[in-house]
Amino acid sequence: MPILQASVTPLPGGICLRGQTAIVTGASNGIGTEIVLQLLEREISTVILAVRNVARGEAARTALLARPSVKKANPKAVLKVMELEVEDYASVQRFTKAFLAEHSELHLLMLNAGIGVLKRDLVSNGHEKHIQVNYLSNVLITLELLPLLNATADKTGKPTRITWTGSRMHNVSALAKGKVPLKPGESVLGHFDSEDSYVAFARYADSKLLCLLFLFELRKHLNGDKVIQNSYCPGMVNTGMSDVLPIYLRLPMNLVKAIRARSVEVAGWIALNAAVVVGPESHGQFLEDKNIVEGSPFIKTAEGQKVQKMLWNETIDELSKLTTIPGWMKKV
Ligand SMILES: NC(=O)c1ccc[n+]([C@@H]2O[C@H](COP(=O)([O-])OP(=O)(O)OC[C@H]3O[C@@H](n4cnc5c(N)ncnc54)[C@H](OP(=O)(O)O)[C@@H]3O)[C@@H](O)[C@H]2O)c1
Repeated sequence: MPILQASVTPLPGGICLRGQTAIVTGASNGIGTEIVLQLLEREISTVILAVRNVARGEAARTALLARPSVKKANPKAVLKVMELEVEDYASVQRFTKAFLAEHSELHLLMLNAGIGVLKRDLVSNGHEKHIQVNYLSNVLITLELLPLLNATADKTGKPTRITWTGSRMHNVSALAKGKVPLKPGESVLGHFDSEDSYVAFARYADSKLLCLLFLFELRKHLNGDKVIQNSYCPGMVNTGMSDVLPIYLRLPMNLVKAIRARSVEVAGWIALNAAVVVGPESHGQFLEDKNIVEGSPFIKTAEGQKVQKMLWNETIDELSKLTTIPGWMKKV
């Protein structure tokens, strides 16, 4: 890992999102709030801050509307806070149902909420928390909102977008590194739910690997004519994400962040580049900063491809209990 991160250029001028509606998950702080700010500065009409803590979301909303740049560029913007707890499928479906009841268009879905902690925890449905929060619930949100994203693309004649906040850290997944391979007969989701496969320092990376495997399989089944779906990594960013680490790790991490972390503003440029600047060539792709890259070499190996297919099939099985699986999402 280089000591310093490469410099990133600001967004091009002239981006105007007037008339568009976006959802940003994990919008109450960090990169999520910055994404909302930069969308507002580019005249977006409506943004939903999808947050698990409504009070924190309302505080973010108030602060955003008070920003001079927002008052100047977008005084009539509609900014709404809606509850979304991605640990819980029921909350995801309450959120998508409430959104669909109130909105007839969706142009941009930013799947940004995420966690990286060093403690093994299962959510109420039995899945390991990182896998639920960073991966599974995002696929459910995608499936619930794709029909509206498709319909909006039909109406406007322009592709709509889904952009995931991913991470280069997926390269150091315990699975990708071969540290904890799948056992014979084990499912991918079962592997990550089991205590035996848990490696604290790799679990965040594991969950981000699953997100990419899903996106890379998806592009084989669905083109980006209507909805361009991609993922980006903003590099190391100075947010509160590491504040949940134990103190003995937080102190050295704060030192590393002080030397090399990017500001949230730069992370916002990278996010909006993926979401509104790059085009159809980015469908089903992973961007490091603003560049399309291949992702972990593991993904192309026979084992990586096997895991990708298994995950796809297991995700279909898992979510078919909750929602309608679209016809293009066939098992492989
Ligand atoms: N910071 C980095 O260096 C870095 C690098 C690469 C990728 N990323 C990714 O960037 C995204 C944003 O992270 P950040 O750095 O901005 O950290 P952050 O400030 O901790 O933001 C994470 C956001 O996710 C929300 N969230 C967490 N668990 C949730 C849940 N169960 N339900 C709903 N929302 C939940 C948090 O809500 P609360 O406010 O309620 O906790 C918060 O708004 C994450 O996906 C992360 O993996 C970060």
